Amino acid sequence: MFTRDPKEEVAEFYKNECYLAQIAGEEVPHLHQGYWYPDTDVHDLKTAQYNYLQELVKNIPRPKGDVILDLGCGYGAAAIWLATHFACRVYAIDLLESHIAKAKTAIQKYGLQDKIELHLADILDTDFLPDTFAHVLAVESLYHIAQKEKVFAKVQKSLKKGGLFAIADYLLYAPCSWLSAKIAPLASGGSYIGYASEYSDLLQKCGFTIIGIEDVTEQTLLKTFLCSQSENHDHLRDYVRKNHGVVASFIIPRIFKACMAGPAKKHWGVSFIWARKD
Ligand SMILES: C[S@@+](CC[C@H](N)C(=O)[O-])C[C@H]1O[C@@H](n2cnc3c(N)ncnc32)[C@H](O)[C@@H]1O
Repeated sequence: MFTRDPKEEVAEFYKNECYLAQIAGEEVPHLHQGYWYPDTDVHDLKTAQYNYLQELVKNIPRPKGDVILDLGCGYGAAAIWLATHFACRVYAIDLLESHIAKAKTAIQKYGLQDKIELHLADILDTDFLPDTFAHVLAVESLYHIAQKEKVFAKVQKSLKKGGLFAIADYLLYAPCSWLSAKIAPLASGGSYIGYASEYSDLLQKCGFTIIGIEDVTEQTLLKTFLCSQSENHDHLRDYVRKNHGVVASFIIPRIFKACMAGPAKKHWGVSFIWARKD
């Protein structure tokens, strides 16, 4: 049976600048959702994306002087945030040359070369020494990867005792309708969205203790969608028109809106998972 090369598939998805980078309008776009607190301005994706990282690392003890692995670092935004907010060093990897190149430029711009080490690597091909990282972050990267058990086993081995694996990812929630399970990968762009139960079973099988799982769809995906629809993001429509044509610029936002029915019904969405190596 013909199967597509996973790297080509990921590269194809990121061929056009993703829409989050478009609405961010800042120099180092975060390629992840925002997290809206009740008082966060609906238009303010940048603050919401900082909130998102803040929420994801809330269970991580202050990682002073430690090395954290950023698995699937994209343009380096989370690595830069971590290195500037905590007295830690970051080892950041990504599958795509284009993302590593952008991350390199961003890290140089912020003068963080001595705090962030960048590597072009597929997590599935890495062979980290045991007890290397204090903590590991995977910010919306695992939904691109089919072999989750292999990733979890590698992360488990590479973590120091007591280290946390903090995951932010798109997940399916049972009972998810057949249609939602088909739509979720298309709407999110990740081919390998797993069930929440699959994540927790595999993490435990690989020796992790689950510290917590939080469904944050309401505060993230649904609010990021509202933000992208808000009146001051007209340039998003211009972007769709430029990349996909005039007809698509009318149709795509409507399709996208229809796709949000799944998260609204809790068939799929975004969750944070914290797992510890004891
Ligand atoms: C949605 S982006 C998130 C990027 C970054 N974590 C952020 O939040 O800004 C997912 C990233 O995971 C990377 N990725 C996908 N599969 C990977 C793999 N097998 N190994 C390493 N990185 C991978 C992609 O290239 C992409 O940059």
